[in-house]
Amino acid sequence: MFQFTFEEPSDPQSTELVRCSLEARENSHSPYSKLRVGASIRAVGGRIFSGCNIESCSFSPTICAERVAVASAVAAGYTQFEAIAISSDLKEAITPCGVCRQFMREFSKDLPILLVRSDGMICRTDLTELLPGSFGPDSLEQPHRAA
Ligand code: THU
Repeated sequence: MFQFTFEEPSDPQSTELVRCSLEARENSHSPYSKLRVGASIRAVGGRIFSGCNIESCSFSPTICAERVAVASAVAAGYTQFEAIAISSDLKEAITPCGVCRQFMREFSKDLPILLVRSDGMICRTDLTELLPGSFGPDSLEQPHRAA
């Protein structure tokens, strides 16, 4: 079972990614849940892309911070990633929703994930741990049953 173990971000890369995700919360549009979420993803090469949750009065178009961050990176031409940090206003660390886990899986099977508590402490995990036995792009490369 998944265990939360927290530590201070010690290396400079994690520290920066965590700081960016905490800052990204500031732009959250979340008038309905009133829960601000920020996510920052570091692409191979070092560029960081951030996102916040954007809610809709029609509810279902609401998009999570993680998908905004990933989409922003992909739109800029980056599809290989080193790590993502996810922050929110919750006292405890937020974990990515199932849709976001699958969305991240498109680009990495084992992406390192930093779950950030509002006090800045982090829990290190990865996509393999949060989405075991996942369905990925490679799954579609298997031979299909003849029609
Ligand atoms: N939310 C995220 O941005 N990321 C998650 O991983 C979980 C949930 C947002 C969506 C919505 O705006 C609010 O949090 C409450 O669900």
